[in-house]
Amino acid sequence: MATESILIIKNVTMQFGGVRAVHNVDIDLKSGEMLGLIGPNGAGKTTIFNLITGSIQPTEGDILFKGKTIRGKRVDEICHLGISRTFQNIRLFQKMSVFENVALGLHSKPHYSLAEAFIRTPHAAKAENELKEKAYELLKMVNLQDEANKPAGILPYGLQRRLEIARAMATNPDLLLLDEPAAGMNEDECNELVKMVRNIHEQMHYSIILIEHHMNVVMDLCRDANIVVLNLGEVLAVGTPEKIQNDPKVIQAYLGSKRGQNDRYATPA
Ligand SMILES: Nc1ncnc2c1ncn2[C@@H]1O[C@H](COP(=O)(O)OP(=O)(O)OP(=O)(O)O)[C@@H](O)[C@H]1O
Ligand SMILES: [Mg+2]
Repeated sequence: MATESILIIKNVTMQFGGVRAVHNVDIDLKSGEMLGLIGPNGAGKTTIFNLITGSIQPTEGDILFKGKTIRGKRVDEICHLGISRTFQNIRLFQKMSVFENVALGLHSKPHYSLAEAFIRTPHAAKAENELKEKAYELLKMVNLQDEANKPAGILPYGLQRRLEIARAMATNPDLLLLDEPAAGMNEDECNELVKMVRNIHEQMHYSIILIEHHMNVVMDLCRDANIVVLNLGEVLAVGTPEKIQNDPKVIQAYLGSKRGQNDRYATPA
């Protein structure tokens, strides 16, 4: 029996005034699978995430999550349905601690009343302890448990990216969208990130879409999965890492892109 789709993007177009950021895009993500989303700068990758999470509404087309349309739904409604994301431009509460950044996400679903929290009933205290445990569990998954009390803003860039992942996991999503989680990371940090994301995927059984410019990272994480290549808002190719890497259209799109990304299109290690 074929695995069911968790997310279906159907013929979606996004027009910003005169700019057509996304054009007639179809994507089908099966439940529990990982999908790579790559393409040159300005290809429309982040716009796809903005569409899935409801921060913008498609000009045309439909997006189905667990079989139902999410068109017209608000960001918070979509988050409650089970979709969570990280941001290309990190969006943490810089002055709050690492722990608090994760705990805030967990607090979005309190299991006790405000009155109970105020007078600290045993029920509220138990719930607080559970929240603390859960936050540490998530911090451990991204290896940040020892940084829990530091302000998020003083963490090196690579660690802030990992904290973004833990915070996204706090809402207990079924679909996790990672927007360039390896941006700004060196090779060792990239290798560590690959292990971390693989471990999260295996342990949490999330469906994951990964936008990434570091080719080694995306090819490695998607070695048993498909990659969608976007170019100028359109799907240029879909397939396994091997198929994508040998596709002349894909190679041309990268070599011809403004940033000259042939160096980023390295063969995976
Ligand atoms: N809110 C917006 N208003 C107007 N134009 C936008 C908006 N968001 C994105 N765009 C435009 O849509 C196109 C696609 O942008 P997008 O951010 O999706 O690209 P990307 O593939 O994520 O690129 P990068 O790899 O650089 O992050 C670009 O031309 C961008 O300028
Ligand atoms: Mg982007």
